[in-house]
Amino acid sequence: MATRSENIYKPFKVTLEKVIEESPLIKTFVFVPEREFRFKTGEFIELTLDGIGEAPFTPSSSPLVTDRFDVTIMKAGYVTEKMHNLEPGAVLGVRGPFGRGYPIEDFVDKEILILSGGCGLAPIRSLLYMLIDMKDKLRKVVLCYGSKTPEDCIYKPLFSELNKINKFQTLRTVDLADQYWEEHVGVATVLLDHVEVDLAKAVGVVCGPPVMMKYGTLKLLEMGFPENLIYLSMEKNMSCGLGKCGRCMMGSYFVCRDGPVFTYDEVKGQPNIW
Ligand SMILES: Cc1cc2nc3c(=O)[nH]c(=O)nc-3n(C[C@H](O)[C@H](O)[C@H](O)COP(=O)(O)OP(=O)(O)OC[C@H]3O[C@@H](n4cnc5c(N)ncnc54)[C@H](O)[C@@H]3O)c2cc1C
Ligand code: FES
Repeated sequence: MATRSENIYKPFKVTLEKVIEESPLIKTFVFVPEREFRFKTGEFIELTLDGIGEAPFTPSSSPLVTDRFDVTIMKAGYVTEKMHNLEPGAVLGVRGPFGRGYPIEDFVDKEILILSGGCGLAPIRSLLYMLIDMKDKLRKVVLCYGSKTPEDCIYKPLFSELNKINKFQTLRTVDLADQYWEEHVGVATVLLDHVEVDLAKAVGVVCGPPVMMKYGTLKLLEMGFPENLIYLSMEKNMSCGLGKCGRCMMGSYFVCRDGPVFTYDEVKGQPNIW
């Protein structure tokens, strides 16, 4: 937390070490911070490109690593396009971490069913690293992931790594398959028909594009998940990230301060949640 004399809007410097192409529209950027950087899974940062602008992102690397961190960025508009053109050695600014992430202490002794789509796997990768670290305290982890095409599927090596870990299972689907694709075809929610969970012990986690968040949540409710055990990572347009400007308001919540992770029962009555 900032002391009285610190400027809460002042970024610290990070140097781009490496860029990994994940898909035609998505790249992972590995940053080395000028000082140790700690965050909790699901919290977000504001990443500044000098003279261009700032945008919120959720680190996609393990929170247990403090001398480097990854941010996985989808090319969506002006700032993210400029970020996609960066080369190693570039210096950027970071504010944060901000917000409320995943309450992983509540996942102990649970079956965790994760539904993710597109670039929504970025925050989930950071969560998965934490779940791997605490796997002895979990019952099981099922990751369901959907992308538009096989080419759009990000973190390809992660899936084979997870499938080798006891208690972890992954299922993937694409909207449009090619001749080499041997997994599921259809929207991400179809994967939930192939999952077995003990509802008495399960929590659901949903992160992806708004339409997937909506139908994924409805499907989990239909399966019998309680509203207070469905965790949603909400992405609203943001500015300060600090609960001061009001840009991210969703009904009575500031998403930057009270979220971005909420349970469904916390947000279900708020306007325009999807
Ligand atoms: C808490 C949080 C975490 C996020 N984490 C990631 C992440 O890990 N990886 C990633 O690729 N993206 C993430 N985003 C979305 C990312 O912030 C936007 O894609 C980015 O701000 C777009 O900036 P731009 O200038 O390139 O696009 P703009 O030119 O500003 O807009 C292009 C399009 O993106 C939409 N957009 C703009 N800002 C946001 C926003 N904050 N959230 C959603 N859509 C937006 C606009 O409505 C427009 O449709 C996150 C957003 C939030 C709020
Ligand atoms: S982004 Fe300013 S209040 Fe949330």
